[in-house]
Amino acid sequence: MDTERLLTGYSVSESEEFSELSLRPQRLGQYIGQSRVKDELSIYIQATKERQESLDHVLLYGPPGLGKTTLAMVIANELGVNIRTTSGPAIERTGDLVALLNDLNAGDVLFIDEIHRLPRQVEEMLYSAMEDFYIDIVTGQGQMAQAIHFPLPPFTLIGATTKAGSLSAPLRDRFGIVLHMEYYDVDDLTEIVKRSAKILNTSIAADGAREIGLRSRGTPRIANRLLKRVRDYTQVYGRGEITKDLADKALSLLRVDHKGLDHVDRQLLEAMITLYQGGPVGLSTIAANISEETETIEDMYEPYLLQTGFLQRTPRGRIVTKQAYEHLGFPYSSKEN
Ligand SMILES: Nc1ncnc2c1ncn2[C@@H]1O[C@H](COP(=O)(O)OP(=O)(O)O)[C@@H](O)[C@H]1O
Ligand SMILES: [Mg+2]
Repeated sequence: MDTERLLTGYSVSESEEFSELSLRPQRLGQYIGQSRVKDELSIYIQATKERQESLDHVLLYGPPGLGKTTLAMVIANELGVNIRTTSGPAIERTGDLVALLNDLNAGDVLFIDEIHRLPRQVEEMLYSAMEDFYIDIVTGQGQMAQAIHFPLPPFTLIGATTKAGSLSAPLRDRFGIVLHMEYYDVDDLTEIVKRSAKILNTSIAADGAREIGLRSRGTPRIANRLLKRVRDYTQVYGRGEITKDLADKALSLLRVDHKGLDHVDRQLLEAMITLYQGGPVGLSTIAANISEETETIEDMYEPYLLQTGFLQRTPRGRIVTKQAYEHLGFPYSSKEN
């Protein structure tokens, strides 16, 4: 088992995608947390259904593992329509997009994950598809070139991205509904762990679920992963029920600490403290020091470290906060002078 990926990787393998399926909530009522997002959506969904129209295009953005793909499926279920799922990098040519759009029925949802990674020509073709439900297909070459106007059924595009900032303005502007997903609080994560344990047929004490929730860095996908590993540990060392004590021991073995930081998070902060006196340091320098990709750090590690207040962004680079020094047990000297 690859421990590193278990804890820190957010990318989803095929087998995992399959096992995630059963844990995914199907309806809005089963979708835990994100109440602001749910409140907004339920109004739009109800109004759309009453008018028998297609839902306006929806952009979901936020860190990996917070439930964007799940929510897209929930929206389609609530609307009672079909959903086609694809991703930005998978649509290589405009022909691929034409094929996808051609398959849609009125009201259907087309879900494009990682929509910030669409090739440019594909993105440009999407503009008219989204705005006026048609595409222009050019056939032939030179003198023989001819544009065919191709009308589409009204459909809903749901785009998901970890970085709203890297979406071009024309694309962003074509989404009528823009929803920002936030990290989950401990109560919500505890609920998610309890719900998943039930589905997995595993008995868990309330404080055991809370311990896992506390250490899941605000992310349902991580909560589910940790639950599965704690379940294994409990099977071998426990008496059937996941308790707080067993959860704590299993998570310590996995090197997930009490703030939910894993060893890469700690390595990152420690490198900044020991090599750069806590910063400011540029992102690429940090990345080189711990042998990670700059993008991985920016998308996966940094958002949570910023959120917990262990890291701060300044114009001159990232700095480690006093709180992080204390958490890691390093003496803190103020840099005011
Ligand atoms: N609100 C939620 N309630 C319960 N489980 C959730 C929720 N959001 C996400 N999950 C769980 O977390 C997993 C990851 O969610 P996913 O939609 O794949 O995240 P994203 O697409 O944002 O990376 C899902 O398989 C699902 O089981
Ligand atoms: Mg996803």
